[in-house]
Amino acid sequence: MSTTKKPTLGVIIGSIRPERFGPTPAKWFAAEAERHGAFEVDLVDLADYQLPMELAGNDPNAALPAEVARLGQRLAKAGAFVLVTPVYNRSYPAALKTAIDWFYGEWALRPVSFVSYGGITGGLTSVEHLRGVFAEFPAVTIKNFIALANYWRVFDHDGWPVNTEGLRVPAAALLDELAWWAPMLREARRSRPYPRLDFALATNDSRAVSPTELVSCAFSSLH
Ligand SMILES: Cc1cc2nc3c(=O)[nH]c(=O)nc-3n(C[C@H](O)[C@H](O)[C@H](O)COP(=O)(O)O)c2cc1C
Repeated sequence: MSTTKKPTLGVIIGSIRPERFGPTPAKWFAAEAERHGAFEVDLVDLADYQLPMELAGNDPNAALPAEVARLGQRLAKAGAFVLVTPVYNRSYPAALKTAIDWFYGEWALRPVSFVSYGGITGGLTSVEHLRGVFAEFPAVTIKNFIALANYWRVFDHDGWPVNTEGLRVPAAALLDELAWWAPMLREARRSRPYPRLDFALATNDSRAVSPTELVSCAFSSLH
């Protein structure tokens, strides 16, 4: 008999520069996700991975750089993602694009949302640009996201929101929506071949599957 475990939510810190602000909203959102209860939360800091900007060549059998493989194994376990992104010149950081571009099957057929932060726009332009990118995999970018305008006023000196209850409302809306999509897409990844899918779907979902399900699984795993 198979058991159903909570899907893993990868919360990704998208800025890697020294003295960045990114860990502050990411840690807050990860704590909200833990509190929400629908997910196992994995807070992934891209600064912990030395990802080459020089992407893979054309040999599909070439080994991935060790740091890329290490991050890929972690991403493959996730059944949903929240990208925490600043705004650099009206868009998201190059480090985040590099991390996105190293992978494909790890993002595919997952629900994705965003926590952005910036000046008066709150990083809204980063979110809109990322939605276009994630259409490629294909991933499902959901309606709800959080844009923290003038973020330096949102958090106190200890790194927690000044108005915890106020921010909890949009966080819950985002997490409720992700929690609707994540199990459905997990089931669909396992049971329904995606039309014209010409890549391997990387998946290491936490749900235990029976041997029969494993044999009939339509997709192969990269890891
Ligand atoms: C290269 C660069 C470009 C930036 N461009 C914008 C911008 O277009 N709009 C904005 O509101 N803030 C902009 N900022 C300010 C950032 O939102 C702010 O520095 C923020 O702390 C960056 O996130 P991080 O500290 O996690 O890297 C920019 C910052 C950098 C470093």
